[in-house]
Amino acid sequence: MLTFFLRIVYIVSMGKTYVFVNQKGGVGKTTSAINIGAYLAEAGKSVLLVDFDAQANLSSGMGIKPLKPGVYELLAGTVPFDKVIRKSAVQGLDVIPASIDLSGAAVELIEQKERDFFLKKALVPARNRYDFILIDCPPSLGVLTLNGMAAANAVLIPMQCEYFAMEGLSLLLKTIKRIQKSLNPQLGIGGIFFTMYDPRTKLAQDVVKQVSAYFKSAVFTTIIPRNVRLSEAPSYGMPVSLYDPQCSGARAYRSLSLELIRRSSPPAPVGESAAPASAAASTNSNGGLHDA
Ligand SMILES: Nc1ncnc2c1ncn2[C@@H]1O[C@H](COP(=O)(O)OP(=O)(O)O)[C@@H](O)[C@H]1O
Ligand SMILES: [Mg+2]
Repeated sequence: MLTFFLRIVYIVSMGKTYVFVNQKGGVGKTTSAINIGAYLAEAGKSVLLVDFDAQANLSSGMGIKPLKPGVYELLAGTVPFDKVIRKSAVQGLDVIPASIDLSGAAVELIEQKERDFFLKKALVPARNRYDFILIDCPPSLGVLTLNGMAAANAVLIPMQCEYFAMEGLSLLLKTIKRIQKSLNPQLGIGGIFFTMYDPRTKLAQDVVKQVSAYFKSAVFTTIIPRNVRLSEAPSYGMPVSLYDPQCSGARAYRSLSLELIRRSSPPAPVGESAAPASAAASTNSNGGLHDA
């Protein structure tokens, strides 16, 4: 009983670690990590962004230079945690950058015994320092993404409103269930959210309807619209909250971040949760997927 209680206290006190996952590229993982991170910080939270993609789009989108030392050196153990943390232009928002060296790590890790837990161990010093840790993953379900999911409390899934995105989603959910059984039993679904939404297309409307009907409360209410300001901001090395806080994309990411804060509050005591009984897949208090 005591260990159970201590474990709950530990989970609540260590802050929330979210990993942005979608094996498809170009769906808005990096854009979402940057802008949700910025709005969480604006809401007074301390936030760490971890660039875990060798493309280093998050690092450059946040205007971080130079890229080394970064997450690769942290994993390799050649540089201590404090030396890889960079302050960003947003108060309360720190970044661990990535560089192309990270692509080598993917190969090196495969040969290691504890290969899926390197990031989790590397982030131990961050646990008590930040309210939120957001990990941006590459577009694959390879060893880096598995490390990301092993290190996180919950997965955030950005999804474009396209037909093939739904097929990709079922593969991703199967993978998450596998991870829950093997690497990380605590891993939950933080939520699915739609990106680059264009209300003029019927397909986009249909995808939102179908996914929302099926996944119910796992789907965020806020939908991120297609908005050119969101794609311009990274070339100025800043989140949209600094680049153009009034544009539709900025307002949507602000609202999504506030929704995330509400969702990440400690779960209601057992017995008070209102899981949908009829859902084919429902979520537990930590957002974990269960078969109905
Ligand atoms: N809501 C949006 N509206 C318009 N462009 C977007 C939006 N979200 C992302 N983009 C652009 O789409 C491209 C892919 O987004 P990105 O976040 O890099 O995806 P991922 O990290 O999943 O590969 C980038 O050029 C980005 O600027
Ligand atoms: Mg990316």
